[in-house]
Amino acid sequence: MSSRVLITPSILAADLSRLREEIASVEPYADWLQVDVMDGHFVPNLSFGAPVVKWIETKLTLDVHLMVSNPEDRIEEFLKAGADHITFHAEAANDAETQAALIAAIRDGGATAGVAIKPETPLEAVSVLADVDLLLIMSVDPGFGGQSFIPDVLEKVKQARAAYPNLMIQMDGGIDDKWAPQCIAAGANNLVAGSFIFRAADRAASIASLRNT
Ligand code: DX5
Repeated sequence: MSSRVLITPSILAADLSRLREEIASVEPYADWLQVDVMDGHFVPNLSFGAPVVKWIETKLTLDVHLMVSNPEDRIEEFLKAGADHITFHAEAANDAETQAALIAAIRDGGATAGVAIKPETPLEAVSVLADVDLLLIMSVDPGFGGQSFIPDVLEKVKQARAAYPNLMIQMDGGIDDKWAPQCIAAGANNLVAGSFIFRAADRAASIASLRNT
């Protein structure tokens, strides 16, 4: 597992009327860029579709977080749109066979595959932890940016890190310079932040503060 903590700005909090500039403002300092896809069914909010991903030009790893029901129906369109990584929710694919098939479909399309769990969902809901590229442990209930971090999930991060020393563990939701050190200490090595980064005037400094540097 790389010792470098990856920082993943989430465009959900960006000024979407200036998306190209907003991406350019984080690109020199970040590692991945996350697009939160919400279908208004799995989560109450409706956000971006594949056409938005298609228009994004970035050298960062383009990370698509599917907060959708029936993720199997969405994989192909986001692969075609240019996703480098796709994460689906265990709560939307709740058996080992479905989760394994989704991972295979994502990888067959040339992307890496992740599984996400909500704060209240136990690690055991992810049947494929031994064969996934990334585990996303949500630190807010998915659906909206700008929510408060739920510290209880840190125990789940510690549990996952102890069991899977080489797994990329991503955290997402309410992460700022206060919570980032505790996320990293618990074992997370990929931090998603929307509000904390895009509300900051100095994007370089905000990203550096998450890396603990
Ligand atoms: C929740 C979203 C948010 C977003 C980041 O469904 O996934 O977590 O990416 O939001 P902030 O960093 O503003 O809490």
